[in-house]
Amino acid sequence: MTPAGAISTLADELAAANGHSTATEPVTLVIFGGGGDLAHRKLLPALYNLHLDGLLPPRIAIVGVGRTAMTDEAYRDFARDGVSQFSRRPLDADAWEHFASALFFATASIDDDRAFAPLGSRLDIVEHERGLPGNRIYYLATPPSLFAPTVKQLQHARFVPPQEPPGDGKRLPFARLIVEKPIGHDLESACAINDAIAQAFAERDIYRIDHYLGKETVQNILVLRFANSIFEPLLNQKYVDHVQITVAEQEGVGTRAGYYEQAGALRDMVQNHILQLLSMVALEPPRSLEADVIRDEKLEVLLSLRPLDAEAVDANVVRGQYSSGFELGKPVPGYLEERGVKADSRTETFVAVRALIDNWRWSGVPFFLRTGKRLPKRASEISIHLKAVPPILFNAVPDGQLDPNVLSIRIQPDEGFALGISSKIPGPRVRIYPVKMDFHYGSTFGGSSPEAYERLLLDVMAGDPTLFMRRDAVEAAWRWVTPILERWATTPGPLPTYAAGSWGPPEADRLIESTGRQWRPL
Ligand code: BG6
Repeated sequence: MTPAGAISTLADELAAANGHSTATEPVTLVIFGGGGDLAHRKLLPALYNLHLDGLLPPRIAIVGVGRTAMTDEAYRDFARDGVSQFSRRPLDADAWEHFASALFFATASIDDDRAFAPLGSRLDIVEHERGLPGNRIYYLATPPSLFAPTVKQLQHARFVPPQEPPGDGKRLPFARLIVEKPIGHDLESACAINDAIAQAFAERDIYRIDHYLGKETVQNILVLRFANSIFEPLLNQKYVDHVQITVAEQEGVGTRAGYYEQAGALRDMVQNHILQLLSMVALEPPRSLEADVIRDEKLEVLLSLRPLDAEAVDANVVRGQYSSGFELGKPVPGYLEERGVKADSRTETFVAVRALIDNWRWSGVPFFLRTGKRLPKRASEISIHLKAVPPILFNAVPDGQLDPNVLSIRIQPDEGFALGISSKIPGPRVRIYPVKMDFHYGSTFGGSSPEAYERLLLDVMAGDPTLFMRRDAVEAAWRWVTPILERWATTPGPLPTYAAGSWGPPEADRLIESTGRQWRPL
């Protein structure tokens, strides 16, 4: 940021934001599941892009760990393939050579007690050769069932320094842990994973990823709210009629049925991404930008969510499963026909919820949340619908109601935000037309925004936990979601279907229309 009073252009700001090298300490990044899909599609391309921007520490080693043996050369080929296919910027031969020299692979199986001693020796050798002091980040890009066993092995093999620093004032190398969602499948299992991790790592060294928090547009919610004076005074029950949060996906379950069959949309999207969006949009102004101050405020929102249990679930939550239909004019199979899905699966691929936040600011303002796979388009948006103006003056005609103002925050794609307002159509008569003040990242800032994983990996290297989920928040989110899962398990009821390529089952429309409102067209 430019100091107050200094003159800077947008170009200066962008250069400053993109060009400088973050002074992070030398580090070894150890990726368990390093030969897997997440590493291939997301992590290695993100690290490569950080390298292109000169943001990686000058001394670094990236060590993939997996049970299937691979040479370092083979791992570099695997990474190159991932970068070629999934990097937001093309592969540059020179930059690649330099990046690839930091990549290594080690074979180890988590359930083999004897595997960690050779892994330790391998890491020591790599660190010695690259002059690294032993700062380590362990990334668990593995199924959650392996989180606790891996951490146990790390501790057992003395990969994690003691949580209390030695009394002689010397600084030990750091050890940080990154875990991916899902953290458990309900409150109890999430607590068990958190307990197991806490045996080895202090909370300040645990980085629980929700990749939505790494998205530029999600970070911009706080800026939009607290760097402008126009919106914040309006964001409360006095002026807001309701809020909608939609995370729509066009794709089906794809190749992930093994995981998704156990998860479903509520666990996969609502417990984490949607509740994170909700807490960003609903939180009270934090007293500072310190990580725990912001995270405390987000937690407050989750704790203020009105619990939904028993009949309240039936009245406020709708689920659905896609049947066959069309995507971009091509026929696509229903969920039950997807590879790896049980023929009688009751896994939900769509959820809509009416949620209430019982605090002073939001009392009585419904938050309508929805997410689904195989919807007509990929579009994530938060829209804040302000109350209508009184039915006098321009809003006096009963059949010509004005559109209430809507502030819509487009998370993806076409990132940006818009404010819908009423304006007079030029001419002798007073005719009013809804117009938009619209901001698009693409046309203002150009280029492609960094991927969420770039920002998140950089933050772990820099030791900044702001954009990561704290234990209490993960558990608060599960506490709210678990009674819904329990109700579905104990009172199965019908599972509505919706045709692929439609906006979910009619029950989801009724959920909102019964309150006199409608889903905003996307
Ligand atoms: C993941 C879910 O967390 O988020 C996936 O497991 C989902 O099912 C994905 O497709 C959506 O992420 P994005 O960034 O593409 O919106």
